[in-house]
Amino acid sequence: MTDIRELQTPALLVDRSVFDSNLQLMSQAHPGHRLRPHVKAHKTTELARRQAALGHDTFTCATIREVEGMAAAGLGNDLLLANEVLDMRRLGQLVESGARVTVAVDSDVIVEAAVAGGVREVVVDVNVGLPRCGCAPEDAGRLADLARSRGLAVRGVMGYEGHAMVITDLDERRKVVEECMTKLLTAHADVGGDIVSAGGTGTYTVNTWANEIQAGSYALMDTAYAALPDLPFGHALSVLGTVISTTAPTAGIPGWAVADVGLKSLGMDHGNPTIPGGAVWFCSDEHTTWQPEEFSDVSIGDRVRVLPAHVDPTVALHEQMYVVDGDTVVDEWAVDLRGW
Ligand SMILES: Cc1ncc(COP(=O)(O)O)c(C=O)c1O
Repeated sequence: MTDIRELQTPALLVDRSVFDSNLQLMSQAHPGHRLRPHVKAHKTTELARRQAALGHDTFTCATIREVEGMAAAGLGNDLLLANEVLDMRRLGQLVESGARVTVAVDSDVIVEAAVAGGVREVVVDVNVGLPRCGCAPEDAGRLADLARSRGLAVRGVMGYEGHAMVITDLDERRKVVEECMTKLLTAHADVGGDIVSAGGTGTYTVNTWANEIQAGSYALMDTAYAALPDLPFGHALSVLGTVISTTAPTAGIPGWAVADVGLKSLGMDHGNPTIPGGAVWFCSDEHTTWQPEEFSDVSIGDRVRVLPAHVDPTVALHEQMYVVDGDTVVDEWAVDLRGW
């Protein structure tokens, strides 16, 4: 058994009991195929295997590489690429080899790309209010007709209400989700098919309109999501660092400490990470500088767990996750869905 002190830092840690609890909580809320876990946050087939073992063996992916990796790991039962891609030849090969791959389409061009690439099943991706991908709700029926006329099976619709995810007030969040899902259901009436896919970690309790929820971050969590008071999930993910330098307080200037966790091992688009028991001042390439509550509690060589503000881009910077029970490493999972 390895102690975390043996690990080369920075290193991604997954707290086993918090992770297990996060999976259980989501599973109770959305059993079986009501949850289509998104792998984009964790990019790890060993983690996806645990989700499948709880009955969630249909998955959402964001990249071709994620779809390929999931299929290669034997998790290709029903993979939804909830994103637009233009060169679908690799996806077509997966379909040929027996994986079930469904892709999102939001334009005529993407429908033709699916046909050209050898993909056979699609969902119509509808813009429900987030200015990203997705067709206008009123164009969804026409797009579905086009896809069917080109020989594709249309399984339904998806619509990602990303702008609702971190609205702090639950009633306000529910209201925005309802507006989004009204658009999605209108589109679904024109498109047909069994699937109405939407949602995420921030909206999994309030999105009662979609018949499958694409949540991903809940398994590991980050501080941006933890700011939502109603979410029951704990911080399973941290980046382990080592204190490499300290500067003692002097008259009028508080002391600070520096850990070897910086921009190259943390996704920073949602802001600074958090170090429990301290105040983070700033991050630079290889460093986080923070002010411990009690300077005398921190020494060079100490290990420190840094909580990222955004899980997805943090995980994508690491090659493996170390699963820990307290300070003991009990497993190691390759972050094997990275790349493109
Ligand atoms: C298409 C799509 N669905 C669902 C999600 C929700 O994921 P999470 O639960 O990690 O917020 C995302 C996140 O970016 C997404 O892009």
